[in-house]
Amino acid sequence: MNEKKKVILITGASSGIGRQTAIALAQQGHIVYGAARRLDKLQDLEAFHVLPLQLDVTDEESRKTAVQTIMAATGRLDVLINNAGYGSYGAIEDVPLEEAKRQFEVNLFGVAGLTQLVLPPHATATRWNNH
Ligand SMILES: NC(=O)c1ccc[n+]([C@@H]2O[C@H](COP(=O)([O-])OP(=O)(O)OC[C@H]3O[C@@H](n4cnc5c(N)ncnc54)[C@H](OP(=O)(O)O)[C@@H]3O)[C@@H](O)[C@H]2O)c1
Repeated sequence: MNEKKKVILITGASSGIGRQTAIALAQQGHIVYGAARRLDKLQDLEAFHVLPLQLDVTDEESRKTAVQTIMAATGRLDVLINNAGYGSYGAIEDVPLEEAKRQFEVNLFGVAGLTQLVLPPHATATRWNNH
């Protein structure tokens, strides 16, 4: 494989910035997996050589399956672009806590969970396991 050709996973590829970025990276010759929950919204990305992948970043099993799918096909994952997310705005007295928690699940813990899956273990990781 050309060393400059990266295997890339970009989340939130079914619309907006993620979709356009996935297309641009595929046009540069990279192997691009475009992920989101709505597989139907990803299908037409195949015309741009983006590989559609179903993924809910809030779901641990879904995250594992997505990464395993890529590793089984390519043996590597060079770049993760944590783009999936959304804004939820309002005064604190107006935003239901369930909605606030949901946003953290997507924008924060989804990012952290996926990042942990693709990064190699850090040398100091055991110090957390001891607590
Ligand atoms: N546009 C802006 O001006 C702006 C400004 C600041 C920050 N941002 C951030 O930049 C990113 C992209 O913005 P955008 O405007 O392009 O957003 P967008 O068009 O609304 O797209 C959001 C993407 O995130 C995906 N997504 C949402 N929840 C998900 C979940 N649980 N699992 C997997 N995928 C999920 C959606 O796909 P599915 O619904 O199919 O899952 C969709 O593809 C977002 O994180 C946004 O918060 C955008």
